[in-house]
Amino acid sequence: MALDGRVLLAGEEPFRSEVLHALGEFAAVQVRTVDEAAASLLSFRPMAVLVDFRPLLGSEQGSTATGPAICRRIKGAAATRLLPVIAFAGGTTESLVAALDAGADHVLPFPPEPRELQARLRQVHRTRRDTDKLEDATQVIYALANAVEAKDAYTEGHTERVGALAVEVGRLAGLDEDTLEALRQGGVLHDIGKIGIPNEIINKPGLLTPKERIVMNKHPIIGERICEPLKSLRNLLPIIRWHHEKLDGSGYPDGLKGSKFPVPAQILQLSDIYDAITTDRPYHMARTRTSAIGFLHGEAQKGWRDAQLVNLLAKGAEVLGLGRTREEDIPPPPAPVGQRRTE
Ligand SMILES: [Fe+2]
Ligand SMILES: [Fe+2]
Repeated sequence: MALDGRVLLAGEEPFRSEVLHALGEFAAVQVRTVDEAAASLLSFRPMAVLVDFRPLLGSEQGSTATGPAICRRIKGAAATRLLPVIAFAGGTTESLVAALDAGADHVLPFPPEPRELQARLRQVHRTRRDTDKLEDATQVIYALANAVEAKDAYTEGHTERVGALAVEVGRLAGLDEDTLEALRQGGVLHDIGKIGIPNEIINKPGLLTPKERIVMNKHPIIGERICEPLKSLRNLLPIIRWHHEKLDGSGYPDGLKGSKFPVPAQILQLSDIYDAITTDRPYHMARTRTSAIGFLHGEAQKGWRDAQLVNLLAKGAEVLGLGRTREEDIPPPPAPVGQRRTE
Protein backbone atom coordinates (compact mmCIF):
# COMPACT_ATOMS: atom_id res chain seq x y z
CA MET A 1 0.00 0.00 0.00
CA ALA A 2 1.44 3.38 -0.95
CA LEU A 3 2.08 6.11 1.56
CA ASP A 4 -0.93 8.41 1.75
CA GLY A 5 -0.55 12.18 2.21
CA ARG A 6 -3.40 12.19 4.72
CA VAL A 7 -3.25 11.81 8.49
CA LEU A 8 -5.53 9.68 10.65
CA LEU A 9 -7.14 11.79 13.36
CA ALA A 10 -8.64 9.80 16.25
CA GLY A 11 -10.63 11.03 19.22
CA GLU A 12 -13.84 12.70 20.36
CA GLU A 13 -15.40 15.49 18.29
CA PRO A 14 -14.17 18.56 20.26
CA PHE A 15 -10.59 17.22 20.12
CA ARG A 16 -10.78 16.50 16.41
CA SER A 17 -12.15 19.90 15.46
CA GLU A 18 -9.37 21.71 17.39
CA VAL A 19 -6.67 19.64 15.66
CA LEU A 20 -8.38 19.91 12.28
CA HIS A 21 -8.13 23.71 12.50
CA ALA A 22 -4.38 23.49 13.07
CA LEU A 23 -3.70 21.07 10.19
CA GLY A 24 -3.65 23.70 7.44
CA GLU A 25 -2.97 22.04 4.08
CA PHE A 26 -2.88 18.53 5.51
CA ALA A 27 -6.00 16.44 5.00
CA ALA A 28 -7.33 14.09 7.67
CA VAL A 29 -9.47 10.98 7.90
CA GLN A 30 -11.41 11.19 11.15
CA VAL A 31 -12.35 8.33 13.47
CA ARG A 32 -13.69 8.16 17.02
CA THR A 33 -13.08 4.69 18.48
CA VAL A 34 -10.18 2.22 18.65
CA ASP A 35 -12.01 -0.19 16.32
CA GLU A 36 -12.67 2.54 13.74
CA ALA A 37 -8.99 3.48 13.86
CA ALA A 38 -7.91 -0.14 13.36
CA ALA A 39 -10.31 -0.61 10.42
CA SER A 40 -9.09 2.62 8.86
CA LEU A 41 -5.45 1.54 9.10
CA LEU A 42 -6.29 -1.57 7.08
CA SER A 43 -7.85 0.44 4.27
CA PHE A 44 -5.31 3.23 3.88
CA ARG A 45 -1.80 4.03 4.99
CA PRO A 46 -1.72 7.48 6.58
CA MET A 47 1.51 9.46 6.91
CA ALA A 48 0.88 9.84 10.66
CA VAL A 49 -1.73 9.13 13.32
CA LEU A 50 -2.86 11.91 15.65
CA VAL A 51 -4.30 10.83 18.99
CA ASP A 52 -5.66 12.33 22.19
CA PHE A 53 -3.56 11.57 25.24
CA ARG A 54 -5.05 14.05 27.69
CA PRO A 55 -6.40 12.59 30.91
CA LEU A 56 -10.18 12.28 30.77
CA LEU A 57 -11.91 15.13 32.59
CA GLY A 58 -14.74 14.28 34.95
CA SER A 59 -14.81 10.76 33.55
CA GLU A 60 -16.32 7.82 35.33
CA GLN A 61 -14.05 5.36 37.04
CA GLY A 62 -12.78 2.66 34.74
CA SER A 63 -13.28 4.53 31.47
CA THR A 64 -10.18 4.98 29.36
CA ALA A 65 -9.19 7.38 26.61
CA THR A 66 -8.76 5.88 23.15
CA GLY A 67 -5.32 7.45 22.57
CA PRO A 68 -3.25 4.96 24.60
CA ALA A 69 -5.10 1.93 23.18
CA ILE A 70 -4.69 3.11 19.58
CA CYS A 71 -1.03 3.93 20.13
CA ARG A 72 -0.26 0.52 21.66
CA ARG A 73 -2.12 -1.28 18.88
CA ILE A 74 -0.09 0.57 16.22
CA LYS A 75 3.26 0.07 17.94
CA GLY A 76 2.52 -3.56 18.83
CA ALA A 77 1.84 -4.72 15.27
CA ALA A 78 4.74 -5.41 12.91
CA ALA A 79 2.99 -3.89 9.90
CA THR A 80 2.27 -0.53 11.53
CA ARG A 81 4.99 -0.07 14.15
CA LEU A 82 6.95 2.42 12.04
CA LEU A 83 3.88 4.55 11.49
CA PRO A 84 4.54 7.86 13.31
CA VAL A 85 2.14 8.60 16.17
CA ILE A 86 1.71 12.20 17.30
CA ALA A 87 0.11 12.44 20.74
CA PHE A 88 -1.51 15.52 22.23
CA ALA A 89 -0.86 15.49 25.95
CA GLY A 90 -2.37 17.50 28.76
CA GLY A 91 0.75 19.50 29.65
CA THR A 92 1.55 17.50 32.79
CA THR A 93 4.72 15.44 33.07
CA GLU A 94 2.56 12.35 33.78
CA SER A 95 0.68 12.56 30.49
CA LEU A 96 3.90 13.29 28.57
CA VAL A 97 5.59 10.24 30.10
CA ALA A 98 2.50 8.06 29.53
CA ALA A 99 2.43 9.02 25.84
CA LEU A 100 6.13 8.30 25.31
CA ASP A 101 5.88 5.00 27.22
CA ALA A 102 2.96 3.93 25.03
CA GLY A 103 5.25 4.43 22.02
CA ALA A 104 4.21 7.88 20.76
CA ASP A 105 6.90 9.34 18.47
CA HIS A 106 6.04 12.98 19.08
CA VAL A 107 4.19 14.65 21.93
CA LEU A 108 2.63 18.07 21.36
CA PRO A 109 0.68 20.39 23.64
CA PHE A 110 -3.08 20.79 23.34
CA PRO A 111 -4.57 22.87 21.82
CA PRO A 112 -2.02 22.56 19.01
CA GLU A 113 0.00 25.47 17.70
CA PRO A 114 -0.69 25.31 13.92
CA ARG A 115 2.84 26.20 12.72
CA GLU A 116 4.46 23.70 15.07
CA LEU A 117 2.07 20.89 14.12
CA GLN A 118 2.51 21.51 10.39
CA ALA A 119 6.31 21.66 10.65
CA ARG A 120 6.21 18.36 12.55
CA LEU A 121 4.10 16.77 9.81
CA ARG A 122 6.46 17.99 7.09
CA GLN A 123 9.33 16.42 9.02
CA VAL A 124 7.42 13.13 9.42
CA HIS A 125 6.67 13.11 5.70
CA ARG A 126 10.35 13.58 4.74
CA THR A 127 11.50 10.78 7.06
CA ARG A 128 8.84 8.40 5.80
CA ARG A 129 9.80 9.01 2.19
CA ASP A 130 13.39 8.00 2.99
CA THR A 131 12.66 4.94 5.11
CA ASP A 132 10.15 3.70 2.53
CA LYS A 133 13.00 3.22 0.09
CA LEU A 134 14.70 0.75 2.40
CA GLU A 135 13.87 -2.81 1.57
CA ASP A 136 15.31 -5.90 3.10
CA ALA A 137 14.85 -9.63 3.14
CA THR A 138 12.47 -9.38 6.07
CA GLN A 139 10.05 -7.48 3.87
CA VAL A 140 10.03 -10.38 1.42
CA ILE A 141 9.04 -12.69 4.26
CA TYR A 142 6.28 -10.27 5.27
CA ALA A 143 5.01 -10.30 1.71
CA LEU A 144 4.82 -14.09 1.97
CA ALA A 145 2.91 -13.76 5.24
CA ASN A 146 0.40 -11.54 3.48
CA ALA A 147 -0.05 -14.26 0.89
CA VAL A 148 -0.88 -16.68 3.71
CA GLU A 149 -3.39 -14.30 5.21
CA ALA A 150 -5.09 -14.03 1.85
CA LYS A 151 -5.22 -17.85 1.63
CA ASP A 152 -6.79 -18.23 5.05
CA ALA A 153 -10.39 -17.30 5.86
CA TYR A 154 -9.12 -15.14 8.71
CA THR A 155 -10.97 -12.04 9.65
CA GLU A 156 -9.22 -8.88 8.54
CA GLY A 157 -6.57 -7.59 10.86
CA HIS A 158 -6.01 -10.91 12.67
CA THR A 159 -2.21 -10.75 12.47
CA GLU A 160 -2.12 -7.11 13.55
CA ARG A 161 -4.23 -7.81 16.62
CA VAL A 162 -2.37 -11.00 17.58
CA GLY A 163 0.99 -9.19 17.42
CA ALA A 164 -0.20 -6.21 19.43
CA LEU A 165 -1.89 -8.38 22.07
CA ALA A 166 1.13 -10.67 22.41
CA VAL A 167 3.43 -7.65 22.87
CA GLU A 168 1.14 -6.22 25.54
CA VAL A 169 0.92 -9.54 27.42
CA GLY A 170 4.70 -9.98 27.09
CA ARG A 171 5.20 -6.53 28.54
CA LEU A 172 2.91 -7.36 31.48
CA ALA A 173 4.89 -10.58 31.97
CA GLY A 174 8.11 -8.53 32.18
CA LEU A 175 9.77 -9.91 29.02
CA ASP A 176 12.74 -8.03 27.51
CA GLU A 177 12.59 -5.81 24.41
CA ASP A 178 14.12 -8.43 22.06
CA THR A 179 11.47 -10.95 23.02
CA LEU A 180 8.73 -8.35 22.61
CA GLU A 181 10.06 -7.69 19.11
CA ALA A 182 9.89 -11.44 18.38
CA LEU A 183 6.27 -11.47 19.59
CA ARG A 184 5.46 -8.49 17.38
CA GLN A 185 6.84 -10.33 14.35
CA GLY A 186 5.22 -13.56 15.54
CA GLY A 187 1.79 -11.97 15.16
CA VAL A 188 2.39 -11.78 11.43
CA LEU A 189 4.61 -14.76 10.82
CA HIS A 190 3.47 -17.60 13.11
CA ASP A 191 1.32 -19.23 10.43
CA ILE A 192 3.59 -18.55 7.46
CA GLY A 193 4.04 -22.32 7.08
CA LYS A 194 0.43 -22.56 5.93
CA ILE A 195 1.77 -21.51 2.54
CA GLY A 196 2.66 -25.20 2.18
CA ILE A 197 -0.81 -26.51 3.14
CA PRO A 198 -3.56 -27.01 0.54
CA ASN A 199 -6.38 -24.43 0.60
CA GLU A 200 -9.08 -27.13 0.92
CA ILE A 201 -7.61 -28.13 4.27
CA ILE A 202 -7.00 -24.61 5.55
CA ASN A 203 -10.52 -23.40 4.83
CA LYS A 204 -12.45 -26.62 5.51
CA PRO A 205 -15.42 -25.56 7.64
CA GLY A 206 -15.88 -28.87 9.50
CA LEU A 207 -13.58 -31.18 11.43
CA LEU A 208 -10.41 -32.33 9.69
CA THR A 209 -9.95 -36.04 8.97
CA PRO A 210 -6.94 -37.69 10.68
CA LYS A 211 -5.02 -37.56 7.39
CA GLU A 212 -5.81 -33.87 6.87
CA ARG A 213 -4.80 -33.22 10.49
CA ILE A 214 -1.36 -34.69 9.85
CA VAL A 215 -0.87 -32.35 6.89
CA MET A 216 -2.20 -29.31 8.77
CA ASN A 217 0.05 -30.02 11.77
CA LYS A 218 3.12 -29.60 9.59
CA HIS A 219 2.66 -25.84 9.27
CA PRO A 220 4.78 -24.87 12.32
CA ILE A 221 7.79 -26.79 11.00
CA ILE A 222 7.38 -25.50 7.45
CA GLY A 223 7.16 -21.96 8.90
CA GLU A 224 10.33 -22.43 10.91
CA ARG A 225 12.15 -23.59 7.78
CA ILE A 226 11.02 -20.54 5.78
CA CYS A 227 12.29 -18.10 8.41
CA GLU A 228 15.42 -20.02 9.43
CA PRO A 229 17.84 -18.45 6.90
CA LEU A 230 17.18 -14.93 8.16
CA LYS A 231 19.34 -13.76 11.04
CA SER A 232 16.88 -11.02 12.00
CA LEU A 233 14.17 -13.62 12.62
CA ARG A 234 16.25 -15.94 14.79
CA ASN A 235 14.43 -15.10 18.05
CA LEU A 236 11.20 -15.88 16.34
CA LEU A 237 11.89 -19.51 15.41
CA PRO A 238 10.81 -21.09 18.74
CA ILE A 239 7.60 -19.08 18.64
CA ILE A 240 6.77 -20.28 15.14
CA ARG A 241 7.67 -23.90 15.80
CA TRP A 242 5.87 -24.20 19.12
CA HIS A 243 2.74 -22.07 18.82
CA HIS A 244 0.54 -25.21 18.90
CA GLU A 245 2.14 -27.02 21.83
CA LYS A 246 0.21 -27.69 25.05
CA LEU A 247 1.59 -27.64 28.59
CA ASP A 248 0.57 -31.28 29.23
CA GLY A 249 2.56 -32.48 26.23
CA SER A 250 -0.46 -33.21 24.00
CA GLY A 251 0.28 -30.47 21.46
CA TYR A 252 2.30 -30.52 18.23
CA PRO A 253 4.82 -30.79 16.59
CA ASP A 254 7.12 -31.81 19.48
CA GLY A 255 4.77 -32.61 22.39
CA LEU A 256 6.70 -30.26 24.70
CA LYS A 257 5.73 -30.52 28.36
CA GLY A 258 5.65 -27.97 31.20
CA SER A 259 8.62 -25.62 31.43
CA LYS A 260 10.00 -26.96 28.11
CA PHE A 261 7.22 -24.97 26.40
CA PRO A 262 8.72 -21.44 26.24
CA VAL A 263 6.70 -18.57 27.69
CA PRO A 264 6.88 -16.36 24.53
CA ALA A 265 5.41 -19.19 22.42
CA GLN A 266 2.68 -19.65 25.05
CA ILE A 267 1.86 -15.94 24.94
CA LEU A 268 1.68 -15.87 21.16
CA GLN A 269 -0.55 -18.95 21.22
CA LEU A 270 -2.95 -17.46 23.80
CA SER A 271 -3.18 -14.23 21.80
CA ASP A 272 -3.83 -16.20 18.62
CA ILE A 273 -6.61 -18.29 20.18
CA TYR A 274 -8.12 -15.24 21.90
CA ASP A 275 -8.36 -13.37 18.62
CA ALA A 276 -9.74 -16.40 16.78
CA ILE A 277 -12.58 -16.98 19.25
CA THR A 278 -13.53 -13.33 19.79
CA THR A 279 -13.88 -12.46 16.10
CA ASP A 280 -16.64 -13.47 13.68
CA ARG A 281 -15.65 -16.40 11.48
CA PRO A 282 -17.57 -18.38 8.88
CA TYR A 283 -17.51 -21.46 11.11
CA HIS A 284 -18.35 -20.14 14.57
CA MET A 285 -20.07 -17.48 16.62
CA ALA A 286 -17.70 -15.05 18.35
CA ARG A 287 -17.33 -15.00 22.13
CA THR A 288 -17.28 -11.92 24.34
CA ARG A 289 -14.07 -11.01 26.15
CA THR A 290 -15.32 -12.55 29.43
CA SER A 291 -16.46 -15.73 27.72
CA ALA A 292 -13.15 -16.09 25.83
CA ILE A 293 -11.12 -15.69 29.02
CA GLY A 294 -13.41 -18.23 30.72
CA PHE A 295 -12.86 -20.64 27.82
CA LEU A 296 -9.07 -20.30 28.15
CA HIS A 297 -9.25 -20.79 31.92
CA GLY A 298 -11.16 -23.99 31.17
CA GLU A 299 -8.26 -25.05 28.95
CA ALA A 300 -5.84 -24.15 31.75
CA GLN A 301 -7.78 -26.51 34.02
CA LYS A 302 -7.35 -29.27 31.46
CA GLY A 303 -3.61 -28.71 31.80
CA TRP A 304 -3.14 -27.14 28.35
CA ARG A 305 -2.51 -23.48 29.21
CA ASP A 306 -1.03 -21.43 32.03
CA ALA A 307 -3.73 -19.80 34.19
CA GLN A 308 -1.48 -16.87 35.21
CA LEU A 309 -0.75 -16.06 31.57
CA VAL A 310 -4.49 -16.22 30.85
CA ASN A 311 -4.95 -13.56 33.57
CA LEU A 312 -2.32 -11.35 31.91
CA LEU A 313 -4.03 -11.93 28.57
CA ALA A 314 -7.30 -10.64 30.05
CA LYS A 315 -5.48 -7.50 31.20
CA GLY A 316 -3.79 -7.02 27.83
CA ALA A 317 -7.07 -7.41 25.92
CA GLU A 318 -8.66 -4.81 28.18
CA VAL A 319 -5.80 -2.31 27.71
CA LEU A 320 -6.05 -2.65 23.93
CA GLY A 321 -9.85 -2.75 23.80
CA LEU A 322 -9.83 -6.12 21.99
CA GLY A 323 -12.93 -8.30 21.95
CA ARG A 324 -16.52 -7.24 22.50
CA THR A 325 -17.75 -6.76 26.04
CA ARG A 326 -21.53 -7.02 25.42
CA GLU A 327 -23.31 -10.19 24.36
CA GLU A 328 -25.85 -8.15 22.35
CA ASP A 329 -23.13 -6.77 20.03
CA ILE A 330 -22.33 -10.23 18.69
CA PRO A 331 -24.05 -11.27 15.46
CA PRO A 332 -26.03 -14.57 15.39
CA PRO A 333 -24.12 -17.75 14.53
CA PRO A 334 -23.51 -18.59 10.89
CA ALA A 335 -25.41 -21.69 9.78
CA PRO A 336 -24.33 -24.40 10.20
CA VAL A 337 -21.97 -23.86 13.12
CA GLY A 338 -18.89 -25.96 12.57
CA GLN A 339 -16.11 -26.80 14.94
CA ARG A 340 -14.60 -23.97 16.97
CA ARG A 341 -11.30 -23.70 15.15
CA THR A 342 -8.66 -21.87 17.15
CA GLU A 343 -5.60 -21.82 14.92
FE1 LIG B 1 -0.87 -22.04 13.52
FE1 LIG C 1 -3.36 -17.15 13.82
